[in-house]
Amino acid sequence: MKVLFVASEVAPYSKTGGLGDIAAALPAALAARGHQVQVVTPRYGSISTASLGPLQTPLTLQFPFGSVIARFRNLQLAEGLQLSFVEEETYFGSRPGLYGHGDDARRFGFFAMAALSQARFTGFDPDVVHLNDWQPGLAALAMRTSFESRARCITTIHNIAFQGNFPSSVVPELGVPWAVFNPQGSEFHGHFSFLKTALVYSHALTTVSPNYALEIQTREGGSGLDGLLRHRRSDLTGILNGIDDQEWDPNRDPHLPAPYSRDDISGKEHCTRALLEEFGLDPGPRGPVFGSVGRMSDQKGVELWQQVVQQQLARGGYAVVLGSGEKALQDQWLELAGRFPGRLGVKIGFDEGVAHRVEAGSDFFVMPSKFEPCGLNQMYSLRYGTVPIVRAVGGLKDTVVDLAEPEATGIVFKAYSARALAEACDRAWALWIDAPRLFAVRRRGMAQDFSWNHSAAQYEAVYAAPKKV
Ligand code: ADP
Ligand code: GLC
Repeated sequence: MKVLFVASEVAPYSKTGGLGDIAAALPAALAARGHQVQVVTPRYGSISTASLGPLQTPLTLQFPFGSVIARFRNLQLAEGLQLSFVEEETYFGSRPGLYGHGDDARRFGFFAMAALSQARFTGFDPDVVHLNDWQPGLAALAMRTSFESRARCITTIHNIAFQGNFPSSVVPELGVPWAVFNPQGSEFHGHFSFLKTALVYSHALTTVSPNYALEIQTREGGSGLDGLLRHRRSDLTGILNGIDDQEWDPNRDPHLPAPYSRDDISGKEHCTRALLEEFGLDPGPRGPVFGSVGRMSDQKGVELWQQVVQQQLARGGYAVVLGSGEKALQDQWLELAGRFPGRLGVKIGFDEGVAHRVEAGSDFFVMPSKFEPCGLNQMYSLRYGTVPIVRAVGGLKDTVVDLAEPEATGIVFKAYSARALAEACDRAWALWIDAPRLFAVRRRGMAQDFSWNHSAAQYEAVYAAPKKV
């Protein structure tokens, strides 16, 4: 099949979270299975043009707000896999960061149309147009109106909390027909919604775990779009994300001070010692190390961990924290680190190498998310023999098996409360002092297969299903 894959971030070029990882790995897995995949993404100012190909013939796109010239640079990443960057100085090249600009509707409306236009101009006639999250959502509508296409349009929801809702003034600006601005179409409470547009006008929908596919159909989990998703439930499939098991392999991870594997785990202790040193922590008697990596946002349950971590440090544990996001949460971590010198290490920032070393050097990995569409870090943890402590939501529930089960790989708790997380940590301590059991749980986690092949096959099935109108 020919697949046009449209995503607003693609690792390692741009990444604010898991979307970037997925938009790199899934197309690669599909290409390896013999499909022809063209990935389109913006060239943000942070992406150097040095290693990208030369500029291709420019295309002029007309919008009611004016015409915009789209340029492209292509990279052939593998057989059947091309990555194409949309170049536009005003909207992407000159802007700091990826999102959050006042004219995001124009920026990503343009991006969506540029992706479709380029495919048409270059004669890449896709069987499938695969959109990700709200940013390219306008393409789903365009494919039914101004940009008629034979392709099947699929939208993947990576996070329903981000919807791309804009004031209705963007409707005429983007040239969207007023006829679709109603609650059955693109309107969401008086706003024009990019995500709702994608959900209404795509032929099929997917999301990134089976459990999240159920949660978003509920009032609590649907962020206002649950009714629509219940209505479209026969077109909605939950497909668990895979992980890049080449990049995340403790046996050949260039970021680690020592390799280790399921058959010989001994190098992990070396990674732990080095991690404590890297975070400036006491080398003293070895208590369990609790790691966490991620966006510091309400979604991730950071506030719960900030409450509970103190008891763990007081009883002889260590904690290492890597992340960035909301300032109040960052400040709170820095304040706590000041109170627990030698026991709690905090790095504010985004650092791929440190993320790998936290995964490898920690004994437990803490993810008390309020909601979690899939989550990648818990899968990295399992692969790195680090026992995940997760809340039973979204993809966390689909990927980690609690200690109470015979096939246990981690610790799963239910309530979103400091108390429930504290109890989960108590169970972690009990496991910590039971070395043979800890070893068995680690090894079972390391044997899990979260590679892309299985998920890619499920996407293929969605791609190939007959197109309903
Ligand atoms: P989300 O997409 O909601 O942020 P995921 O677990 O799906 O959560 O993906 C997050 C990805 O971003 C993982 O690959 C994780 O390692 C990475 N990541 C998050 N924060 C950081 C950070 N501060 N430094 C390095 N990598 C990070
Ligand atoms: C989102 C979700 C995360 C998921 C990622 C990739 O950012 O928050 O849970 O793993 O997308 O699909």
